[in-house]
Amino acid sequence: MRSPALLETAGLTKHFGELYAVDAVDLAIREGETTAVIGPNGAGKTTLFNLVTRRMRADRGRVRFRGTDITTATPHAVARMGLVRTFQVSSVFPGLSVQQNLLTAVLARTGRSGVSTQSLERERESLERVQELLVRLDLRDDANVACDELAHGTRRRVEVGMSLALEPRLLLLDEPTAGMGTSERQATVELLSELARRGGTTLVLTEHDVDLVMNFARRIVVMHQGGIIADGTPEEIVEDIEVRRAYLGDSR
Ligand SMILES: Nc1ncnc2c1ncn2[C@@H]1O[C@H](COP(=O)(O)OP(=O)(O)O)[C@@H](O)[C@H]1O
Ligand SMILES: [Mg+2]
Repeated sequence: MRSPALLETAGLTKHFGELYAVDAVDLAIREGETTAVIGPNGAGKTTLFNLVTRRMRADRGRVRFRGTDITTATPHAVARMGLVRTFQVSSVFPGLSVQQNLLTAVLARTGRSGVSTQSLERERESLERVQELLVRLDLRDDANVACDELAHGTRRRVEVGMSLALEPRLLLLDEPTAGMGTSERQATVELLSELARRGGTTLVLTEHDVDLVMNFARRIVVMHQGGIIADGTPEEIVEDIEVRRAYLGDSR
């Protein structure tokens, strides 16, 4: 029997005037089902994430997370339930070091931002968690560097680290490799893949380069003009003629 869906949308719709950015999307994501949402610019990927995390109000449709209807929940409540979107660049405190930023996220997760009330034991645990994140994200060399001095790709890794520090059940990553060089993109995807394998957090990411997610995703969802035009295993997707025409631009 298949496990129940972690996230489920039904008829989810958002339009901007005449333009249907997300058009009646039915999507179910199961626990552990690492998924890549691909599609050209303007396909509706970011809007879909915004609707699901309640940063944007849907015009129609429902969203359920862990069996609870979250269609009208606040973004904060959704995050508390374990549905987290990548931190935007603005969420990284630019003047603070990588280490300090990660600590902020770890403390936010444990709800102990008042350092003075923290026991030494708790403080030690938080610092250990930060060290673990620095290792896992290969950020040790930059631990004491202020975030506004980091290369773009490295800062993206800090954002991913801050999101992971919240230990979400479902993490939505909107183009986590944007602005990175080719080798760094591959390394980041491998890192994410490793994190997904360890379990605990189910990953859904958007990406415009299908090659990059072929070995990573268990499932690929292809969006085009607000709708889902293909959904399957990476192998199924490459076989999909419609995708080749609409997205890959392959004339075979
Ligand atoms: N706030 C907005 N106001 C008007 N149009 C928007 C807004 N956000 C997105 N759109 C439009 O909706 C469509 C989908 O955008 P988006 O979700 O950002 O696509 P993707 O992330 O796949 O590139 C695009 O045509 C975009 O221009
Ligand atoms: Mg986008």
